[in-house]
Amino acid sequence: MGYVVVIHNQKGGTGKSTTATSLATLLSLIQRDVVLIDSDPQANATDAMGFKKRRERGGKGYAEFLTSKRTGRTIVKRRVQRSGQVGQVGVLSACREKLISLEAQLQHPLINLDTEAVADKLVDLADQHDYVIVDTAPGVTHLTVAALKAADVIICPMLPTEWAMEGIRQVYSTLEAVRESEVPVWPLLVMGSKNRATKQTLKTIREAYGDSVFENIIRRSGAVEGYEGRGKTMIQVRSTSTASQDYVAFTQEFLVRMESEG
Ligand SMILES: Nc1ncnc2c1ncn2[C@@H]1O[C@H](COP(=O)(O)OP(=O)(O)O)[C@@H](O)[C@H]1O
Ligand SMILES: [Mg+2]
Repeated sequence: MGYVVVIHNQKGGTGKSTTATSLATLLSLIQRDVVLIDSDPQANATDAMGFKKRRERGGKGYAEFLTSKRTGRTIVKRRVQRSGQVGQVGVLSACREKLISLEAQLQHPLINLDTEAVADKLVDLADQHDYVIVDTAPGVTHLTVAALKAADVIICPMLPTEWAMEGIRQVYSTLEAVRESEVPVWPLLVMGSKNRATKQTLKTIREAYGDSVFENIIRRSGAVEGYEGRGKTMIQVRSTSTASQDYVAFTQEFLVRMESEG
């Protein structure tokens, strides 16, 4: 029995894909059975996991997982390595065209796939693994709604700005609209520094959301800017950067929350 962990914030550029890929990689390095789902047509997580464009068209990926019967065969295993540790992440990659077309089908009354059906598939998938980590697109898409319906926990990465609170509020109001049962939302401050804005944002979100806010923050690291485009996750490209170390500490904190008894 595993968990569906959804990485979501309606705003773009808040570190969702970096968090999703880093968390999935770090969990796999400590031998957790992880499936990373890229539900964003922009396919940033897919790129970071080293998929080449041509390969995606080979018929595997999240769109096929949702539409075909042989779902197990759509997960592609990626070997990851960091500081001598080796792991394997199962990936349901994003193909831009297919996800856009699927998004349209999810609204179609005659197609037998709605957000409930997608959510059921995610829950079933989590039953067969330890963690299903879903990276989401900015805004609220049908695929995001489906993931939120299936979620056991939602991680909301947010930047140290005045607008951060609005981001979490939007997550809560979307949740209210799409599901009845409560689900924990855990804010994670990313790209923080030693400045006033970071301190102020942390204070504000901790006052509002208390212990659900991750103790660890992810620092902004000049070393990781522009890590994209190498087909590797940030923590592998810059394994000694502050941001990378922060993701290790955050993953520990996440594990304590998920796996400690009582
Ligand atoms: N800790 C960090 N320090 C510096 N830059 C970062 C850090 N984390 C992410 N970035 C950069 O911020 C940008 C947005 O991150 P990304 O994970 O793609 O956000 P989202 O998926 O929410 O749009 C990317 O260009 C990424 O390289
Ligand atoms: Mg993204």
